[in-house]
Amino acid sequence: MHILHIISSPRAGASFSIKLGNGLVGKLLAAYPGSTVRVRDLAAGPFPHLEESHLDAFNAPAEAYSPAQQAAVRHSDEAIAEVQWADVIVIGVPMYNFNIPSTLKAWIDHIARARITFRYTAGGPEGLVHGKKVYLAAASGGIYSRGPGAANDFAIPYLKNILGFLGMHDVTVVRVEGTKIAGVQDQALEKALNSFVVEAPQPV
Ligand SMILES: Cc1cc2nc3c(=O)[nH]c(=O)nc-3n(C[C@H](O)[C@H](O)[C@H](O)COP(=O)(O)O)c2cc1C
Repeated sequence: MHILHIISSPRAGASFSIKLGNGLVGKLLAAYPGSTVRVRDLAAGPFPHLEESHLDAFNAPAEAYSPAQQAAVRHSDEAIAEVQWADVIVIGVPMYNFNIPSTLKAWIDHIARARITFRYTAGGPEGLVHGKKVYLAAASGGIYSRGPGAANDFAIPYLKNILGFLGMHDVTVVRVEGTKIAGVQDQALEKALNSFVVEAPQPV
């Protein structure tokens, strides 16, 4: 299997979402020996916010791209190629201000591309990315899987929505939560690492 690990925490060795993502990748490698892993670190190499040049190129027909338009879609083309290459995508999701980090949002803005990863049909929008298994390795200082915090979790519902819009409906959420809560933080990672089994992508 091809495993794509998306990192969006800038905290390297201290990051819970990276440790959890690595734990997921480790279990996948144990379950599917010989798999290939590719890491895309959005904190070390951030994608640009969308500018006019990107929007212009996204809307132009690919077969008639100018050199400038070709340059403008480089990040998008690379990111989409990685998503298409992957059978399994592990996305590290640190919660920032009740949502995802802007680095991760910028990546999404580059992979959501009309006519390539989604299209509008007479029957409504249609995702064009199929056959992927996605794991969200989510880390948060507070607790959002239940209780009063749940109403403030805009990160996971948003990601499930946009991934589904692109055709990726097989999404499993694994949370390391309470990383800032005394009495919870010490066990949070171990609890998260023991809370899931890995599964192969479902045939479509
Ligand atoms: C800029 C920033 C914003 C944050 N916002 C929230 C938040 O809204 N809710 C929360 O529970 N934790 C919040 N935190 C705490 C992080 O979610 C927590 O430290 C988490 O472990 C970060 O993921 P990481 O360990 O992979 O870097 C925030 C941390 C930072 C740095």
